[in-house]
Amino acid sequence: METINVGIINVTGYIGAELARLLWQHPGIHLVSATGRSAVGEKLREVFPHLADVDLTIESEMREEVELAFCALPHGAGAEAVAAALEHDIKVIDTSADFRIKDVEEYQRWYKVTHQSPELLSEAVYGLPELHRAEISEARLVANPGCYPTGAILALAPAIREGIIESDVIIDSKSGVSGAGRTLALATHYAEVNENVFAYALGGHRHLPEIVQELQDQTESLALSVTFVPHLIPMTRGILSSCYARLRNKISVEGIREIYRDFYRDEPFVRVVDRPPQTKHTWGSNFCLVHPTVNLRAGRLVVISCLDNLVKGGGGGTQDRLISG
Ligand SMILES: NC(=O)c1ccc[n+]([C@@H]2O[C@H](COP(=O)([O-])OP(=O)(O)OC[C@H]3O[C@@H](n4cnc5c(N)ncnc54)[C@H](OP(=O)(O)O)[C@@H]3O)[C@@H](O)[C@H]2O)c1
Repeated sequence: METINVGIINVTGYIGAELARLLWQHPGIHLVSATGRSAVGEKLREVFPHLADVDLTIESEMREEVELAFCALPHGAGAEAVAAALEHDIKVIDTSADFRIKDVEEYQRWYKVTHQSPELLSEAVYGLPELHRAEISEARLVANPGCYPTGAILALAPAIREGIIESDVIIDSKSGVSGAGRTLALATHYAEVNENVFAYALGGHRHLPEIVQELQDQTESLALSVTFVPHLIPMTRGILSSCYARLRNKISVEGIREIYRDFYRDEPFVRVVDRPPQTKHTWGSNFCLVHPTVNLRAGRLVVISCLDNLVKGGGGGTQDRLISG
């Protein structure tokens, strides 16, 4: 198998470390470089003992032989590093939000930073292979989808494209704590999170514009109204989303399942499942499990989706498409 030389920009976060685990084992990849702001000069396996087999030293700059880089920096910092890599003819998959939202003003309003490379937004491809496979394989810059948006979009896109639901959509999501990243914060301390559940960002979460952008793209006849409420729950990884929308006409559970199975028929990483999925069913895997059903009494579509935020919801989905073309 032909291999490609790959680097990770900022390996010391949760996404960076998870990328190192996945890329090191990938038969189509030669992981040759990993950069970090801290821990420069240290072996990756010393910083993350679970990566015992990964023989890489954290460096301050990416190596010249890199052909494809995964950028795992926080938003804001990502845009500059991405522009620099592209200037060196390195393709980039950016895991931050910097290139996901096409409208720069919308991005700046939600993220409260000035975009450092707005000129690249028009060429960035939203890296959800189930919706943008052909563009991803041609792209120089891929904006990896956010963790919540991946589960929500995969749960609702088939129903919206098929035109079976009304415009009012509710997405109720629960995330494990690794979704907040490795940077220390009071709200994610063990004593704050353990045996506790809370909703947050009720006025609007940053992932909302991305969800709306991609779901609205599935329909010309509906003006979607999306309510997205995230919750933090005391587990390490995983996102479960329960999505609701009123059905336009009566449809059976089997009819709904058929629409979803058809939509994802050729998708290796989305599984339409007959039982409600649980976050532990996706631990460490690149699968998104989708369970569509109908609440006949209320005339409502109910879709439960489930994924690992550090894999399918992190850098997992896009890497497979970009590398295998
Ligand atoms: N966590 C998820 O579930 C998830 C899912 C999808 C996408 N993402 C996105 O992927 C990116 C990485 O996420 P993450 O969860 O891995 O974050 P993280 O664990 O918080 O990692 C960020 C790390 O980057 C370093 N860092 C912080 N600010 C920096 C800066 N200005 N310049 C250079 N390095 C900096 C810090 O490491 P040092 O202090 O060691 O330098 C920090 O630990 C983010 O943009 C995030 O939004 C995250």
